[in-house]
Amino acid sequence: MAPEELRASLKGLGAVGFVPTMGYLHEGHATLIRRARQDHPDGRVVVSVFVNPMQFGPAEDLSRYPRNLDGDLQVAGQAGADIVFHPDAAQMYPEGFSTRVSVAGVSEPLDGAARPGHFTGVTTVVLKLLNMVRPDRAYFGEKDWQQLAVVRRMVADLNVPVQVVGVPTVRDPSGLALSSRNSYLTEEQKTRATVLSRALRAVQAAYADGERHTQALQQAGMNILTAESEATPDYLSVVNSHLQGTELVTPDPLNRVLVAARMFGVRLIDNLPLDPG
Ligand code: PAJ
Repeated sequence: MAPEELRASLKGLGAVGFVPTMGYLHEGHATLIRRARQDHPDGRVVVSVFVNPMQFGPAEDLSRYPRNLDGDLQVAGQAGADIVFHPDAAQMYPEGFSTRVSVAGVSEPLDGAARPGHFTGVTTVVLKLLNMVRPDRAYFGEKDWQQLAVVRRMVADLNVPVQVVGVPTVRDPSGLALSSRNSYLTEEQKTRATVLSRALRAVQAAYADGERHTQALQQAGMNILTAESEATPDYLSVVNSHLQGTELVTPDPLNRVLVAARMFGVRLIDNLPLDPG
């Protein structure tokens, strides 16, 4: 479907909720779509499926990123999507494409440092998709906490007329955050990957016990993470709402603990509020 067709099919049909994805949809994505449906009972819900080459580094998993458009159409439809927009790379990045959208500050630490150019790829494609769909609301998962912060910053800075809605992370019963990349793991490996959420909970527990030093809080999580020989930690960081670390934690519901680690050749990320409230 061409963008003009997409817009024509939305015209005059009420408010639009939009869920951008890279496909291989799971229950986390479905939760975003159901939320969009709930918020737009009489409007339209659009889901995009596009594995965005611009947000993958040269040594990353673009070529093996899982794809299943038929399955995606089914999951999206069942969760309440009206339209699944699945452009191809030539449609998104035609010959001559030269523009980049990048956000300074919040996109620089953590995954921004570990994955140079990643967030520029994300903000460039998200702004393009928002301009194509022109939704009233757009839904992003807290699973990608930094991505959510970067998108919020871009939308505020560039006066993009959309309301960004953050949706809590969906986990499987073991605590593992659902991710399309989990499909790279065997069941046993998934069990071992619960070390990420266990490390995050150890930080929450230390905070609940009264620890306020960022270093000590991070150490509590690192102790769990490094006990798993298969995990190569990238970072485990306690940050404020600006994604900055401070020596001492100042109470704020937006304080967060974020973790990234490589396990079994897969880069996994997760995060939790420092204070679950
Ligand atoms: P993707 O990884 O497919 O995720 C699409 C959306 O689903 C993101 O907002 C992500 O945070 C959310 N999501 C993924 N797993 C989740 C979970 N377990 N619980 C709740 N939400 C979850 O994120 C991207 O694609 C891309 O970077 C994109 C924004 C589409 C730009 O290309």
